[in-house]
Amino acid sequence: MKQTEALILERTALGPGYYYYRLLCPELADKAKPGQFIEIKASSEETLDPLLSRPISIYRINPEEGSLAVIFKTVGRGTRRIAALQRGNKVSVFGPVGNGFMLPEEAGRIALIAGGIGMPPLFSLAERYPEKDFTLFYGGRSATDLLALDAWEQLGVPYKLATDDGSAGFHGLVTSLFEREHLAASFDYVIACGPKPMLKAVQQLAARFRLPGAISLEAYMACGVGACLGCTCATSKGYRRVCVDGPVFEISEVTFDD
Ligand SMILES: Cc1cc2nc3c(=O)[nH]c(=O)nc-3n(C[C@H](O)[C@H](O)[C@H](O)COP(=O)(O)OP(=O)(O)OC[C@H]3O[C@@H](n4cnc5c(N)ncnc54)[C@H](O)[C@@H]3O)c2cc1C
Ligand code: FES
Repeated sequence: MKQTEALILERTALGPGYYYYRLLCPELADKAKPGQFIEIKASSEETLDPLLSRPISIYRINPEEGSLAVIFKTVGRGTRRIAALQRGNKVSVFGPVGNGFMLPEEAGRIALIAGGIGMPPLFSLAERYPEKDFTLFYGGRSATDLLALDAWEQLGVPYKLATDDGSAGFHGLVTSLFEREHLAASFDYVIACGPKPMLKAVQQLAARFRLPGAISLEAYMACGVGACLGCTCATSKGYRRVCVDGPVFEISEVTFDD
C-alpha cells in the first residue's frame, strides 16, 4: 500500500451528486486489483487530518496510463471536499486497500448484482476478464442513479436494470429482478456489491439456488489499515476487518444483523 499525491486528469459530473474522477497514480495503478479500494482525501491545509480520508472503490484500472478511476456520490463532508476539486488539482490517495475479487476458473455464467454506488468495483472486474460471461443486474432508486451504462455497453456486458420508482427497467428491487431472471437462465456464480439489505437478500437467494459467490461489504472506516477494528463484521470465521480482510467475502460467510 502506498500514500501519494494524485493529479486529477479528468473530472466529470455524472448526474445529481455523482462524480467520475480519473487520477494519475502510477504506483497504485500498477498494483491495483478489481474489488480493491483507495482512501482519498482532498490535499489541502487539512492534509494532516487522517479522519478526512474516505474509502472509494476502484472503478477502472489503467496501468499503461498509470491511472485509476473512481465514481462517487457526495453524501457528507469528505466526499463534498473531493467533489469541489477540479482537473489539474491533486488529491491525497492511499492504497490499494483490501483483498479484491477472486474469480474461480470454473465460474461460467456470472451474475453481477449492483445496488446504487456499489456498481464501480464490479465494472473493474468485468473489464479485467473480457473472456468471462457476465450479466449485470443494476438497481437504483431512480434512472438518474444508474451510472456509466454506456461504459458497460462498450464492454459488451449485457445489463438488466431495476428502479424503485419504475423510471428505468424493472419496477422494483434488483434482487426480485435477479430472482426472476435466474429461474429463466441459471447462473453459476454471483458477485454483489451494494447496500446491506440488498446483500442480505442476495445471500438468501444464493443459499436457495445453491449458488456460490462473493459479496463486497461497506463499513464505516477510521484507520483503513487494519489497526483500529472500527470496521469489523461478524462472519462464520469470527469477526473480520472489512478494510483488510475484505471488503470481499465468500457469500455465505457474512452474518447480517436482523
Ligand atoms: C470499501 C468501501 C468502498 C466504497 N466505495 C464507494 C464508491 O465507489 N463510491 C461511493 O460513492 N462511495 C463508496 N463508499 C462509501 C463512501 O466511503 C462514503 O460515502 C464516504 O465515506 C462518506 O464520507 P463523507 O465524509 O462524504 O460523509 P460522512 O459525513 O462521513 O457521512 C454522511 C452520511 O453518509 C453515511 N455514510 C458514510 N459512510 C457510509 C458507509 N460506508 N456506508 C453507508 N453510509 C455511510 C453517514 O451515515 C451519513 O449519513 C465505499 C465505502 C467502503 C467502505
Ligand atoms: S478501518 Fe480500522 S481496522 Fe478497518
